[in-house]
Amino acid sequence: MLSFIGQGYTKSRTPAIIINHFLRNPHIYTPYTPYQEEISQGRLELLYKYQDLICDITGFEYATCSLIDQCQVAMDIMMIMKNSKPQASTILIHPHFNSRVAKTIELRAKQHDINITRDLTYDPNLLCGVFSQNPDKFGLINQDIFKGDIIKACLTDIYSNFIYENPEKLGYDICFGHSGCLGVPIGYGGPQPAFIATSKKYSRLMPGRYIGKSIDKYNLEAYRLTWQTREQHIRREKATSNVCTSQALLAQIAVTYGLYHGANGLRDISYSIKDKIDYIGNKLNIDTNYNFDTFTVIPESDLYNDLIKNNIYGFEHENRHISFTFDETHDKNDINRLCDKIKNKAYFSKKSRLIKKRNSNVTFTSISDNELDLQRYLHDLSLKDYSLSDGMIPLGSCTMKHTSPSHMEKLFQDDYQVHPYISIEKTPYIETFDYLSKRLCELSGFDKIYYQGQSGAMGEYASLSTFKNYFDSKCEKRKYIIMPRSAHGTNASSASLTGLKVRYVDEKNGLIDIEHLDKIINEVKDELFGFMLTYPNTYGLFEPNIKLINEKIHKNGGLSYMDGANFNAIMGYQTSEELGFDSCHFNLHKTFAIPHGGGGPGMGPIGIREFLAPYLPKYFTSTDFGSASICTISEQYLRKHSNLELAKMAKKNIDTNKKVINELKDYYKILNSDSEYIAHEFIIDVKGLPVSENDICKRLIDYGFHPPTMSWPVSKSLMIEIVESESDEEIHRFITAMKMIKQEINSNPNLLKNAPHTQRDLVNWNYDYSIEKGCFPMGLNKRKYWPTTNRVDSVYGDRNF
Ligand SMILES: Cc1ncc(COP(=O)(O)O)c(C=O)c1O
Repeated sequence: MLSFIGQGYTKSRTPAIIINHFLRNPHIYTPYTPYQEEISQGRLELLYKYQDLICDITGFEYATCSLIDQCQVAMDIMMIMKNSKPQASTILIHPHFNSRVAKTIELRAKQHDINITRDLTYDPNLLCGVFSQNPDKFGLINQDIFKGDIIKACLTDIYSNFIYENPEKLGYDICFGHSGCLGVPIGYGGPQPAFIATSKKYSRLMPGRYIGKSIDKYNLEAYRLTWQTREQHIRREKATSNVCTSQALLAQIAVTYGLYHGANGLRDISYSIKDKIDYIGNKLNIDTNYNFDTFTVIPESDLYNDLIKNNIYGFEHENRHISFTFDETHDKNDINRLCDKIKNKAYFSKKSRLIKKRNSNVTFTSISDNELDLQRYLHDLSLKDYSLSDGMIPLGSCTMKHTSPSHMEKLFQDDYQVHPYISIEKTPYIETFDYLSKRLCELSGFDKIYYQGQSGAMGEYASLSTFKNYFDSKCEKRKYIIMPRSAHGTNASSASLTGLKVRYVDEKNGLIDIEHLDKIINEVKDELFGFMLTYPNTYGLFEPNIKLINEKIHKNGGLSYMDGANFNAIMGYQTSEELGFDSCHFNLHKTFAIPHGGGGPGMGPIGIREFLAPYLPKYFTSTDFGSASICTISEQYLRKHSNLELAKMAKKNIDTNKKVINELKDYYKILNSDSEYIAHEFIIDVKGLPVSENDICKRLIDYGFHPPTMSWPVSKSLMIEIVESESDEEIHRFITAMKMIKQEINSNPNLLKNAPHTQRDLVNWNYDYSIEKGCFPMGLNKRKYWPTTNRVDSVYGDRNF
C-alpha cells in the first residue's frame, strides 16, 4: 500500500532508540499525569522541551504540553474567538482550509449559534475569528493573512516552518496542528500529539497543561505543572475546553525525535521532503515553487480509483481534485511509481506567487549527535519518574492497572501503520474494532460503539453532542443538564461546550438528594436536557436510586449519561443500559488496560442506545477510529478475559476496597465508611489533622508509593483506588505505610512536612529525626524509591511564571 494521503498524517522513521525507550519500556509508559512534581521531573523536563520545540518552530512564545487532536484544538480555539468578541457571532473559515477540521468546527459552532462563512470579503467587524491553513489543503503556501483586528488562527505543518515564514512572523495570533510527523508511529491516525502555540496576549486562554519551572527547598530548579487543566479544576462550566487526558507520551516522543536529529537534522528532513515535490514537479513538468510537501491534480478520468486498483492512495477532495503528500519515508521508487500512474492522466494547475522564505533559523539544539549520549540522557530522566514498575499508584478515579506487554505487540506490527483515511476493511483494524465493539456492547448493554472520542472527556462531549442532535431533530429546545457538584470537572465543561446550562443537584451522604433533583426537574420543566453521573459515583459509592433517577429524567423528556470512569467496579456483571442510562463512555486507558503514558494517550469510545445512533456526530475528531492503534491493547486484554473473569475482578476491587477501609478507619476519618453502597474507592478526609493532604502525599513517596488523588471531589482529602492487578503483599505494604504515617502525624509531623526526603538531604542532614526514620521508614533493607527533587515550591513557581 503506497499512501500519499497526508491531510495532517504523514509517516516518519521512528528511531529504534525511541521505540525501545518509550513504547517498550513500562517504566516510561505507565506513569500518570505529572501532578506530583517530585517524582515526575523526567517527563516534566521532556514536556517542557516539547513546548520549547513547538515555540521555536512556530515562532510563538507560548505552547502547551500537548493536546489530543487538531480538530479538538480547532473547536477549542473557536470558543476562545467567541469569548474574546461576544458581540460578533460569525467565524470565517478559509475556503482552502482542511475539510475535516472545518466540519468539526461547524459542529461546535452550531451548538453555540455561531455562523460560519467562507467569504474572504466578509466584514471583519462582524467576525470573531478567522481560521486559515498554511500550506493550505491543496498544498499551496498561503501567506496572505486576513486583515482586521480579530483572532487569526492558522493550521500549520511542522516541517514547512523550517523553510517558510512561520505563523508568528506572518501575523497570526494562534497556530495549531499535529506534531506526529516528528517520529510518532502513525498507527491508524492515532494517537498523535496535537499542539497549540500563541503569543503572551492569548497565553492564558490556551487549553491544556503548561509546564513551568520553580525551585525546591535547596533553591534548585525544578519543573512543575504550572497550569493543570484549568478547565477541569477551576473553570468547569465556564471552560473553553474539556481536555484532561492528552497526548503526553507522544509529545515526549516528538521532542525526543527533535533531540535525536537536532534543528539541523529536522531542517534537512524538511528540505528532503521539499526535494521530493520538486523532483516530481520536474518529471511532470509542473511548477512546484508554491508547494511544500503536497501537490494537487485535476483528474481526467477516474484516476482516484484507478490508483487504488494499483494500491496507490491520494486524497480526493470534495471537488474531486486529488492531492498527493510526500513525507520522510517516501523514496524515489515510490515517487516514480506515482509519477508513471498520473502522467498524462491529470491537469496540473500552474500559478506562481511570491513566497516568503524564513530568514531566521529554528534554534532547537540536539543535546548531542551521539546516540549513546541520548540513551544516557533518557535513562537519567527516567530515573526521576515514578511508574507502576516502582510500586502501587493508588490514584482514585484513575484505575492504574497493569498492562501486559504481550497485549501491546500489535502496536509494533507494520500492517498496523496505516493512513487513517484508508478504508478499515483493507486494514487489520477491522478485526480489532469488530471484536472490541462486540465486547463493549455486551459490557455496556448498548447497541452501538463510536470511537472518535480520544479521551473520557471527548467521549462525554461526543455523547452530549449526540443527545443534542437528537433533540434538534425533534425541534426540542432543551438546555439544562443536571449533575452532582462532585461531578468531574470535565462533565461540566463538556456540557457547556455542547451549549448547555449546568444545574447542580445536592448530595446527601454521598448520594443524590432526590428531593432536590425533583425540585430542579420541576423548575426546568420541558427544558430538561438530561442528567450526568459517574457510576459508581465520585465518592466511590453505588447510587442506589439510579434506576429511579433515570426514570424521572426520561419521564420528563431528558436523556441520561453515565460517566464510565469507574467502570472497573461494574464490568462484567452490571450494564449501563440496565441502570437506565442512554449512553456512557469507556476510559479504555483505565478499565481496559491502555497504560496512561504519563498523561495520555487515552481512548474514550462511547456506547449508545440504538435510537440515538443516527444522531452520532459524523465528524468529531480527525479520524473515525480515534487513537486506533492503542485500541489493540484493549482488544488483546478483552480477548484474554471473559466477561465472567472481568466480573470477578470487579468484585475483587470492591472487596479490597472494603478491606482497606476496615483496616484504616480507626486511623483516619473515612467518608461514608459505614455506607452499604461502598464500591471500589474511598476518600480520607484530612481536615482537622495537624498536617495537610499534600504532606501525607509527599510522605507516601518516602514509603515508596505514588500519592493518591488529592482534594477531589472533596477539598482537603485523599481519594484511594486499588486495582485488581495489585498483589496482597503490595496492598498490605500500603496499609502498613498508611498506619505508620498516622503514627508519625501524632508523634512527629515534621517527618511529613519535610517529605519527600532525597539523597541530597543525606549530605546535609539536619532534621530532628534519624536518616533511617526519614528515608527508610519501612526498614533499611526494604525496596526503596528515591525521589530526585525535594518539595517543589508552588508559590514561587506561580509568582515567577
Ligand atoms: C470521573 C472522571 N470523569 C471523567 C474523566 C476524564 O477522563 P479523561 O481524562 O480520559 O478525559 C476523569 C479523568 O480522570 C474522571 O476521573
